[in-house]
This record gives sequence, structure tokens and C-alpha cells, in this order.
Amino acid sequence: MKLPRQFFQPLAIGAPAPMRDLPVRLERMIHFVPPHMEKMRAKVPELAKTVDVVLGNLEDAIPVEAKEAARKGFIEMGQTVDFGPTGLWTRINALNSPWALDDVTEIVAAIGNKLDVIMLPKVDGPWDIHYLDQLLAQLEARHKISKPILIHAILETAQGVNNVEAIATASPRMHGMSLGPADLAASRAMKTTRVGGGHPEYKVLADAAGDAPRAAFQQDLWHYTTAKMVDACAAAGIKPFYGPFGDFSDAAACESQFRNSFLLGCVGAWTLHPSQIAIAKKVYAPDLAEVAFARKIVDSMPDGAGAVMIDGKMQDDATWKQAKVLIDLAKLVAAKDPDMGQRYGF
Ligand code: GLV
Ligand code: MG
Repeated sequence: MKLPRQFFQPLAIGAPAPMRDLPVRLERMIHFVPPHMEKMRAKVPELAKTVDVVLGNLEDAIPVEAKEAARKGFIEMGQTVDFGPTGLWTRINALNSPWALDDVTEIVAAIGNKLDVIMLPKVDGPWDIHYLDQLLAQLEARHKISKPILIHAILETAQGVNNVEAIATASPRMHGMSLGPADLAASRAMKTTRVGGGHPEYKVLADAAGDAPRAAFQQDLWHYTTAKMVDACAAAGIKPFYGPFGDFSDAAACESQFRNSFLLGCVGAWTLHPSQIAIAKKVYAPDLAEVAFARKIVDSMPDGAGAVMIDGKMQDDATWKQAKVLIDLAKLVAAKDPDMGQRYGF
């Protein structure tokens, strides 16, 4: 076991000290860009103004023959675009692939001071995080990187789900985690062919009552894993995200999947198509009426202790804390989006 005293020591001489707290940033959507496509790269300067995070994808969905071009394209994007307050992330190839090592070494060498987060796919256990953690520290020292590059794990293997708590606490470099429903479905041998979302056959049937037709209620295939991931992340002080929703033609189902994750504790989701950006903005911001009610709670219990009744509902220390979560998030949204700030009444 690593001693607590050593947890926050840099892993290489000359590497920046690990962060003790995550930067406070709004990350409602992680927008995926295929960086080998010049046409898509050309849109990034404008895109960066409309999303919270731009991610250059190097892994799945990038053809094998375009892997090097995607890496180069991402580096060019990082060197030429001013991202302002928008996060710059990349999803590198899996650690057992022929590209992962060059992804990390070339990207950190070229744009390590601009890169905020590396998303690591197919994380099976803390050993994957430890490897990347050490490698990043060596590269940060070599290239004089001033702030630590964070790691975001994709939870998309059955083994990863088994080890989710150890992954969440593997390093102070951990930023958060995303549910990867497509690879996870394959890893678990689920009988689906979708990227996220429900399945019409995963349902509960109401009890039979004579010959009357029986109602069926579709269930959420991702509830268990999302909740498990949220607990692991919240306990470790890192951020949980829902991942991709592949049916771009079904905005309503995408919104519902995003919202379930938000209500359970996730802070954002991936957007793979421009139409999903507006959905993420709508979902991962607290509801206006909820924020108004949360402000009533905080106003009537300024020190957060005791109990009061508001509109017939009991409020105490625990609801005060829930209200704080909503108000703090609403303030972050308001700072980025003045229109929302007005609607919240800040
Ligand atoms: C994402 O990478 C997924 O597999 O769902
Ligand atoms: Mg995947």
C-alpha cells in the first residue's frame, strides 16, 4: 500500500506537484472531434466557444489507417486554437494498442502545457492508472509542464466495473470517469447492439388482472453501473459522467438518458453530434424551479442547521446540503451563460 504521505508527491523529479483539489469547471458536455478530418478541425475555433470541453478522439471510431493523422491533427489543433476557458482533452488509444505510447509521448511533448485531461479507455484496474500516472510525470518533468495533466477513465469493461473504487482512488491525477455503454455491453455479453440507451425488451410486466392487457415498464439498463460509478467518484472527490448516446435521430431518448444520469449525480455526458450539445446544456443545468426552491431553503436556514417547514415540506441539514449542490451548480452555469444567470435570478 502506498503511504498517505506519499500520495501527493510528484512521481518524477521536476514534475509539477499533484493537485489536491480539482479545478472548478463546468463540464456539461465533452464534445468529440475526429482530428484527422481537416474539415472538422477547421470548425474547432468556433465550436470551442459553444461547448465546455473539446476532445480530440484518437481511439475507437478513428480508422486504423488514420491513427497517426488523428494524433497529428490533434496536436495541430492544440497548437493553433485558442481554447479560452474551454477544456482541451484527448482520448488516447488503449494501453495495449500499438498507438498508446506515441499518443502520450508526442502529445505531451508538443502541447503538454495546453492539455487539461487525457481520457483513458478500457481501464480494467488501478494498475492502468498507475502506469499512465508514472509516464505522465516523467514526460511532464522532461518537457517542463507546469500543471499536472489529469486522467479521466472510461468505465467500459466488466473488470473495470469490479474495480471501480480502486480506479477512482488510484492517483491524485484522477479527474473523473465516464460510463462507456458500448464497450461495456460487449464486455458483459449483453444482448444489445446499441451505443447507450434502453432496450424495449428490458422491462417489468405488471401483474395479470384477468384478461386485461398487461402494462409493461421499460427499465434503465445503465442504472446499476451509473449508480455504482457515481458512488465511487463522489467518495473519491472526482467527477462522474455518462458517456455516448449513439442514436442521433432520437433526441428524446438521448435527453432522457442524460437526465437519468444527471439526477443520479453525473455532471455531464459526451456529445458526439452537434445536435447533442443543446441537449446537454439543457439537461446538465439545474431546473429553474428547483433552484428557486433551493434558494428558499438556504435563505430560511442561513447557517444550514436545524429544521424548518417550507410549503409543507420538512427541510433540515441534509436538504440544505442538497440545495447547496443545486445553487453552486446554477452559479457555475450562470457564470458561463449570462442568459441562464438571469433566468436563475442571480
Ligand atoms: C465508449 O467508448 C463506449 O464504449 O461506450
Ligand atoms: Mg469504448
